[in-house]
Amino acid sequence: MKPGILGIGDALPPRVVTNADLVGELDTSDEWIVRRTGIRERHWLQGDETLADLATSACAAALRDAGKEPGDVDHVIIATITPDQLTPGLAPAVAAKLGAEHAGVVDLNAACAGFLYGLDHAAALVESGRARHVLVVGAEALSRITDHEDRSTAVLFGDGAGAALVGPISEGVGIAGFEFGYDAELAPLLYAERERPLLRMAGQEVYRHAVARMTEASERLLERLGLDATSIDYFVPHQANARIVIAVADALDVPHERVSFNVELTANTSAASIPLGLAAAQRDGRLPAGALVAMVAFGAGFVWGAGVSSWKDGAAIDKRGKAQKVKTRST
Ligand SMILES: CC(C)(COP(=O)(O)OP(=O)(O)OC[C@H]1O[C@@H](n2cnc3c(N)ncnc32)[C@H](O)[C@@H]1OP(=O)(O)O)[C@@H](O)C(=O)NCCC(=O)NCCS
Repeated sequence: MKPGILGIGDALPPRVVTNADLVGELDTSDEWIVRRTGIRERHWLQGDETLADLATSACAAALRDAGKEPGDVDHVIIATITPDQLTPGLAPAVAAKLGAEHAGVVDLNAACAGFLYGLDHAAALVESGRARHVLVVGAEALSRITDHEDRSTAVLFGDGAGAALVGPISEGVGIAGFEFGYDAELAPLLYAERERPLLRMAGQEVYRHAVARMTEASERLLERLGLDATSIDYFVPHQANARIVIAVADALDVPHERVSFNVELTANTSAASIPLGLAAAQRDGRLPAGALVAMVAFGAGFVWGAGVSSWKDGAAIDKRGKAQKVKTRST
């Protein structure tokens, strides 16, 4: 079966932390944070709120959006680097809270690229017939591994969860393909140690690599699929810094009105960033059914990935004549 994205959902913790809230705690300013990152606020879990509850809300919203029930779910794949406990992972708790009683459950860690890896795995399960409906979740509580006393990173991260339901589609493009890569030698530029699990980042170097790798991966994938930037209706790059998003969009020649910019309200949410961007875009009417969507992410590892998918309605993309242009794996 051809795999496609059938539904999307997201959830953010109720607590909003503005730049002004951080200025009281750190030697920083709203002006610096907005100018250097584009971030104005972020959401953080508080008290006894759990990431499993947040991820469950996102999954429930994705199922509602797709018109499916928890019992339809064959697998729950959760990309996260910040599960509620070291073990077990998030997926068993989320599946149980959701009522997905017969689902396979697994967490994966590919840092900010995790959601795209999950999407690829889900697409492969559906394409091979080993599963029919797979929930792919990006869920992070980065506030838990942020050094709240280090101004160079404390302002950058937020918590959130986004989920997509992947399932079979009969027409159109569906989930068309991916491009992945890694560079383990550069891991010391962005990491969190087990003993003192706080994110450490050489910001400027990570910035440089993020722009280069996300641009290259997107270019390679578009070329392989027989596409160029003009075919992309909506572009969702990982939201780490608005300047990175702009640099990648400009390098690829994607006009800014077709680019996701939700870092302003969420900050960097690692694996949750792309599904949060997709959900926000659908809500705001910027992502109509039948659109062709490109996604790209880069993060710790370094691990990066790019993906292209049609948005939900295969028939709509067929009618626009776009489906014929895309060289998917199955054609
Ligand atoms: C982290 C990042 C925002 C820093 O922005 P930058 O423009 O590179 O800033 P620099 O690190 O060069 O710092 C410039 C100055 O601002 C200062 N500064 C850093 N954080 C600050 C803050 N929150 N408030 C005020 N000043 C700050 C620095 O100390 C430095 O001061 P100096 O010039 O006196 O030494 C940026 O490098 C970045 O986004 N990196 C990549 C993040 C990323 O891609 N992550 C993806 C993987 S998750």
